[in-house]
Amino acid sequence: MTMLCGPILGAQVMAKLTINDLNVRGKRVFLRVDYNVPLEEKEGQMVITDATRIVETLPTLRRLSEQGGKLILAAHLGRPKGKREASMSLRPVAIKLADLLGRPVAFMDDCIGEKVEKTVAIMQPGDLLLLENVRYYEEEEANDSEFAEKLARVADLYVNDAFGAAHRAHASTEGVPRIVAKRGGQCAAGLLMERELKFLGEELENPARPFVVILGGAKVSDKILVIDRLLEKANTILVGGAMAYTFRRSQGYKTGKSLVEPDKVGVATAALAKASQRGVKFLLPLDDVIAVPVKTEKLDKKGKPIVEYQNARINTDMNCPDDGAGLDIGPATVSAYSEEIGKAKTILWNGPMGLFEDKRFAEGTNAIARAVAEVTQKNGAKSIIGGGDSVKALNQAKLGDKVTFMSTGGGASLELLEGKVLPGVAALTEKN
Ligand code: 3PG
Ligand code: MG
Repeated sequence: MTMLCGPILGAQVMAKLTINDLNVRGKRVFLRVDYNVPLEEKEGQMVITDATRIVETLPTLRRLSEQGGKLILAAHLGRPKGKREASMSLRPVAIKLADLLGRPVAFMDDCIGEKVEKTVAIMQPGDLLLLENVRYYEEEEANDSEFAEKLARVADLYVNDAFGAAHRAHASTEGVPRIVAKRGGQCAAGLLMERELKFLGEELENPARPFVVILGGAKVSDKILVIDRLLEKANTILVGGAMAYTFRRSQGYKTGKSLVEPDKVGVATAALAKASQRGVKFLLPLDDVIAVPVKTEKLDKKGKPIVEYQNARINTDMNCPDDGAGLDIGPATVSAYSEEIGKAKTILWNGPMGLFEDKRFAEGTNAIARAVAEVTQKNGAKSIIGGGDSVKALNQAKLGDKVTFMSTGGGASLELLEGKVLPGVAALTEKN
């Protein structure tokens, strides 16, 4: 359901209705949010470890509630694949939400059926109700139309503020708005959705220059389409993370035990050629922090042996020793990249520079975070952080509030940057 869109992504996006265009008084507003938040079990209770995605929807909720809408919130949590996994219940989210809003939020232990309809029937203007995980039904991910009809029974209007799930063509993101629209009801973007599309879409169409893109993360394969598209927009691209090693391999260097995608070496070569052809400055690490990976007897959650890293050290040779793996960018790379970042007027950052969860390999990512924060604060550069691990890294470095915008989307922000139309956005009503 993903299509390539035209050149002016931002303009397409802004052609959608937003909640500013709605009159919600007394209406039942079916509101899709992305409350897929990290949870941890503590003393037998599920505790939310990062409530950012909930916090970021508060402006939409407050606005619609103040205007007298009856808000029926739908969301997913994890991937229960049609089963009622207790650990993936949204109940703790309802409690957290009530806490943050300072007002009651009712919770319903199902998302469809008579109980839901009866509860909605007695809602008052301004009331909030959170439905249970829509993915407790496998029909959600299958975008089953009968299931979507059942969800849509409590919807006069549809609002999507779930940017993080907008790349999914599921019942609650795509099926329900289609049904509401067919009945003549309006389907609009929430304020968070609007902001996400503005920063990751519109703002990057005609960025102030120099436009510097920082790309990291493990795999080239995750970023191929993004790299290709950004090669047409950026002045400078800085590459870090394990994906740098596929590029190094393409240049003929030894990569030891670093994570390399051998089948993507050709893609790396092509990207480098395109960069030089278009005059894009494409920088790869000059040095790195390496260590010797050793498999332990301990198993991770998926049953795979946990790898420990021994003998961490800076490596200034472009070749990696046979027993070593590259796990962070080194100090010479940090200073070269920081210098480029310091000249930027617009920055897009997606993906960490190394295995930042381990302190020994966090300095590259932290230093880049500091450079991005500094140029934003001192030079007024616009810095846009493309979600997922880079947001986690910025927050870990306590610099989250020093950048212009941090996306709440992971996969969704990548797909938007790839230039794809997101099904959850496509389903919203056009402005006319
Ligand atoms: C996310 O966390 O990336 C979104 O909530 C989408 O979740 P999903 O990848 O399980 O569809
Ligand atoms: Mg995901």
